[in-house]
Amino acid sequence: MTDFESCLGCAESDGAAAHAAPDRLATREPPPHRPVPAVVSLTVVPGKGKAGERERETLHVEAGEVVCVVGPTGSGKSRLLGDIECLAQGDSPSGRRVLVNGEAPKPEWRFAAHQKLVAQVSQNMNFVVDLSVAEFIAMHAECRQVADPRRIAREVIACANDLAGETFGGGVSLTQLSGGQTRALMIADTALVSASPIVLIDEIENAGIDRKRALALLVAREKIVVISTHDPILALMGGRRAVVRHGAVAAILATSAEERTHLARLQEIDQAMLDLRQRLRTGERVGALPPILSGTKPWTR
Ligand SMILES: Nc1ncnc2c1ncn2[C@@H]1O[C@H](COP(=O)(O)OP(=O)(O)O)[C@@H](O)[C@H]1O
Ligand SMILES: [Mg+2]
Repeated sequence: MTDFESCLGCAESDGAAAHAAPDRLATREPPPHRPVPAVVSLTVVPGKGKAGERERETLHVEAGEVVCVVGPTGSGKSRLLGDIECLAQGDSPSGRRVLVNGEAPKPEWRFAAHQKLVAQVSQNMNFVVDLSVAEFIAMHAECRQVADPRRIAREVIACANDLAGETFGGGVSLTQLSGGQTRALMIADTALVSASPIVLIDEIENAGIDRKRALALLVAREKIVVISTHDPILALMGGRRAVVRHGAVAAILATSAEERTHLARLQEIDQAMLDLRQRLRTGERVGALPPILSGTKPWTR
């Protein structure tokens, strides 16, 4: 369950909230508040791979760190994120155990509906609730007992518009958002509203999101961020990357100094590709390629 879904659980707990009058935000009783515990570290204790072979690597992540998960399609990236999301205790297909601050989390934190330790932004998320974006975010903020839900909703929407290409207003229905807009909204919400100290992101690269800004937003809040990705830029943005093979973490690599020096160049290429895509989308013809893509720009560090 995602942080958003837990919010929906919260919204639905008072009966017809999702279909009530627009001023329901002013009249709903907030749920009892239980602060989310501070998380300084997350440890994934090895389990087994798909063929039952013993997993060798322990993944240990500290607050403020971004760790990427890489591996071919079907290798088990989403399974690893899923194990973290449900704070698995040997009860998932991999048999992994997840420790928070070095200990098994209390059952109440594994199954808490409102104050979740882990928020997940995944590839295929659709809203089924018929609410405007502003109402929904304000409702989530209210669940989180944020002082001014409507103001924070405006901030979240502005931030999401900063991250995604096509802008949207607070009055638009959640069901009308594109995949990219939905994910941008979820990232902004996770950073600004959600109290969850652990954030999981499953392959957002094709969502048209400004990945660098999205990461900066989450990291600035000292969250533990684990991202599964096929995108070389995202993979090198993390401090380390876990390499998954046949369902098991096979290696954990720290991003090297040399790899970091490639980032600026890769981002320049990426930006040029984005510009090209934007021009094609708006019906323009492509004339001369920019130097970074035509190969006329020399390689410099
Ligand atoms: N350690 C494991 N033990 C058992 N099944 C696994 C394990 N890791 C992955 N799987 C299963 O393999 C399939 C592909 O894994 P998935 O995590 O979706 O791959 P990816 O996200 O890398 O494309 C899924 O059905 C998943 O549940
Ligand atoms: Mg996957």
